[in-house]
Amino acid sequence: MATTANAVRVHAFGGSDALKIESIPLPDPKDDELVVKVMAASINPVDFKIRNGTYPRVKAEHLPRTLGRDLSGVVETAGPASGFKAGDAIYAFLGPDRGGNADRVLIKPNEAAAKPKSLNHVQAAAVPLAALTAWQGLFDVGGLQAGERVLIHAGNGGVGHLAVQFAKAKGAWVATTCSGIDKNFVRGLGADQVIDYRAERFEELVEPVDLVLDLVGGEARARSWFVIKKGGRLASALGLSEADNAKATDAGVTAQMYVAKVSTAQLAEVASLIDAGKVKVEVQDVFAFKDVASAHDKLEKEHTRGKIVLDLTK
Ligand SMILES: NC(=O)c1ccc[n+]([C@@H]2O[C@H](COP(=O)([O-])OP(=O)(O)OC[C@H]3O[C@@H](n4cnc5c(N)ncnc54)[C@H](OP(=O)(O)O)[C@@H]3O)[C@@H](O)[C@H]2O)c1
Repeated sequence: MATTANAVRVHAFGGSDALKIESIPLPDPKDDELVVKVMAASINPVDFKIRNGTYPRVKAEHLPRTLGRDLSGVVETAGPASGFKAGDAIYAFLGPDRGGNADRVLIKPNEAAAKPKSLNHVQAAAVPLAALTAWQGLFDVGGLQAGERVLIHAGNGGVGHLAVQFAKAKGAWVATTCSGIDKNFVRGLGADQVIDYRAERFEELVEPVDLVLDLVGGEARARSWFVIKKGGRLASALGLSEADNAKATDAGVTAQMYVAKVSTAQLAEVASLIDAGKVKVEVQDVFAFKDVASAHDKLEKEHTRGKIVLDLTK
């Protein structure tokens, strides 16, 4: 049984040159845990925010730290009460206490589900964190119902492109903002109204909605209060300030910030939608594990459509 893993680590905040791939201890799995050989792992904005020191929950005293929250791989060792066996293909969303940008990871209960059969490992690794953020924002926090109207900011991004499809699968009417270059892409995902955020003002074009899913913050959120019906909701994957809460009260809407949580049940539900052909996964770029710094630069500094994934087989 392997006792070490090669992992992407940060010892001090900085640019992508602060990333190191190094060997770390790999604990033995308890009865309800797994050790997984990682085939592919995704990069999310939280990874470059932790690396550059702008993620508020991770301070310098929390370093060194392994990055990465989601992955796809094959079970190597399965605890007898884990519900899996060696050789199972899984995809997983890890709790914040470990990192998934590694060649082997320990998986705890409620973090893994069977990999969608219709996806390869690179595609499957793109899904867990983004999908659960979209799912929980729309349904658990946002309470979106069939027949309601939702505005999803950044429908072209990692989270947003899945959110557009989940909302359509639920039977909602969907407006979304994105760069003009991606208008056809998000229309192809089923969006009913698409606004080029660089050239148009969504609050002048979108009729009032029941829910805004805020994946952008800043000015986009500040203008969102004007498009929500009285009694409607805003779910934000970014922080809400006192001033935001006051604006929500003035507008007669509820606003809630959330952080995505692990859930095997939701991963399984998402896998069913994917295998039923109702949800497609967009992987914009794939990088070899050793090129993780380039993957960070791409996600942090360039236009994104869908997800960036590390291929651990390369
Ligand atoms: N709370 C949580 O648990 C949680 C979980 C996941 C993500 N998040 C946060 O949610 C945000 C989105 O995550 P992600 O993974 O989807 O990021 P991503 O893949 O980098 O996508 C971000 C998208 O936002 C678009 N965008 C930028 N400015 C915009 C604007 N003013 N209006 C509309 N779209 C705009 C970008 O389009 P262009 O490239 O064309 O500009 C890009 O496609 C990040 O800030 C992330 O940290 C929070």
